Amino acid sequence: MQQDSSASKYSGKKHVKFSDDALALAEKIMKRYPDKRQKSAILPILHIAQAEFNGWLSVEVMDYVATLLKIQPIEVYEVASFYSMFNLKPVGKCVIEVCRTGPCWLMGAEDIVKFIEKKLGIKEGQTTPDGMFTLKTVECLASCGTAPMMQIGEKYHENLTFEKCENILDDYKNKGEEISHWRKERIKHHTDKHI
Ligand code: FES
Repeated sequence: MQQDSSASKYSGKKHVKFSDDALALAEKIMKRYPDKRQKSAILPILHIAQAEFNGWLSVEVMDYVATLLKIQPIEVYEVASFYSMFNLKPVGKCVIEVCRTGPCWLMGAEDIVKFIEKKLGIKEGQTTPDGMFTLKTVECLASCGTAPMMQIGEKYHENLTFEKCENILDDYKNKGEEISHWRKERIKHHTDKHI
């Protein structure tokens, strides 16, 4: 990752550029599509961008993605703002996504959210002061049979109870810095999947 460390946390990087590995991967993915159809690669490229830039997409990062794909920035903003897996503001190392759709809600997702809010001392949409956890609620994650459930990074946590949540969050907290590496793993995941 190459970035201007003086750039504001909230305004993103002024001079955004993928690392050599990420750029090589992005170029391989874009080559899978015919000339002038590179926009079709937008989802994997946004995942790579999010992995490269601390788990969120600033305007500058989205503009860089638009340049790579040779499309208008608004086309990137539209996609990035549509999907809940893309974060448009800074997030913690662990992004907790609790499903809030009908089946999970009926099985107690609302109480799970309240429990996590109380345990972490934050409200939905906020990040803990130590930068460890961000709590989000999202629509169906296709695991309705194991409701209530939540996703953290790449992992699903299902059939949640308060006790399970307590243990899961303590476990992530104890892992500490190890968690920072999952974003790089995400790039590897895309390498395996697309190339
Ligand atoms: S309703 Fe929660 S996973 Fe489908």
